[in-house]
Amino acid sequence: MQARNILVVDKDIITRKFLKQTLEKRGHQVLQAELGKEGLVFAWRDKPDVIVVDPDLPDINSELFIQKIRQDARTASTPVIALSTNLEPEFAKKCIIQGYTLYFTKETEALPKLLAQIENIGKAKTTPLFNKDAGGKVLVFLSGKGGVGVSSLVTNIATTIKEYKKDAKVVLMDMVLPLGSLATRVGYQESINITTLADLPLEELTPEFMSATLPQISGWKFYLLAGSPTPEAANLLQWKKIPHIINILRKEFDYIVVDLGRSLSRTSLHIIQAAHLITLVLGTEKESARLGKAVQEYLLGLNIDERKLYPIINRAVGHEGLTKAEAEQIFGSEIKGTIPFMGAKFTLANDQAESAVRKYPRDTGSMMLIDISKDMLETVEKLK
Ligand SMILES: Nc1ncnc2c1ncn2[C@@H]1O[C@H](COP(=O)(O)OP(=O)(O)O)[C@@H](O)[C@H]1O
Ligand SMILES: [Mg+2]
Repeated sequence: MQARNILVVDKDIITRKFLKQTLEKRGHQVLQAELGKEGLVFAWRDKPDVIVVDPDLPDINSELFIQKIRQDARTASTPVIALSTNLEPEFAKKCIIQGYTLYFTKETEALPKLLAQIENIGKAKTTPLFNKDAGGKVLVFLSGKGGVGVSSLVTNIATTIKEYKKDAKVVLMDMVLPLGSLATRVGYQESINITTLADLPLEELTPEFMSATLPQISGWKFYLLAGSPTPEAANLLQWKKIPHIINILRKEFDYIVVDLGRSLSRTSLHIIQAAHLITLVLGTEKESARLGKAVQEYLLGLNIDERKLYPIINRAVGHEGLTKAEAEQIFGSEIKGTIPFMGAKFTLANDQAESAVRKYPRDTGSMMLIDISKDMLETVEKLK
């Protein structure tokens, strides 16, 4: 673990002492401030790796504090964690919108997570593998039918890409509306998601901001842009900002892996237009091959380059069902790969919010997923 310089801004001396002790025991250096203004001066002078601040400051308000931090080049992209006694979700949301990176409440149960975030957040950036000017590659996954395993595949394929291209930065984006599922699947419980991000003014949505703000999911190795947590949040989604968000993500990440589920909405079409590879997931029933074909025809009708289409079969529902040859007949073109039924292992890993590929790397299913991931990346490179 890397030692970090942490600035703690808190009017409460007990909290300050406690954090100082706990963090120093773990090898970090801690600088403390009691007042907001003092905190700002220390932040600009010492450029800490992370700032932890109780937004209830004695001298200035929490919004002014974060504005000053974000407007100054020395601290514009420094992760700032709010550590607050305010349990109101509305207040937490307000802080995130104002520019705080994460929000924690002062509760003993939150401590292990707070420590993990302090240590993970804003880690030294890896050197980019690819030419950033050209931008990262967008890999979208969709199906004609729900329940065929799109979400299970994106999470595992995003992890596999990261294992295979060690220095790449990978972000997984959940665009299934009106309700995303990836946050739950990978065990992410905080409040940053596509709706809260799209609420922010465009000028705040910079590549550095994305890196500092999006959570890194440690067991899975990717960054996550979580989906809509509720149908209400989906209704509030400022979908017109999605193309901008994708462009910004492309400046910071090498791969943007997107779960579109079976939604061919206005929003998902923008993303499909920007995609470098479109993986169409078919299930094992005739119906799913027919629906997949309908989606394919629709996309070709939009003038999408056929070479970007990457149809695969996922045997999510067991051993019976279509063979590859039968599916190809219905689908009308070559199926690029087949993921076998991974049975109880897959479900068990899912239930524990773990990656099946990482948990059972020698399983045939995992090996086939790894092969398919490599082939996808090669296909993208060839299309350049
Ligand atoms: N290859 C597979 N082998 C076994 N179970 C799978 C496989 N792919 C998906 N599943 C299971 O199928 C169910 C539906 O998968 P999910 O990823 O939620 O589908 P979708 O996102 O397309 O609706 C989940 O319970 C998942 O664990
Ligand atoms: Mg899904």
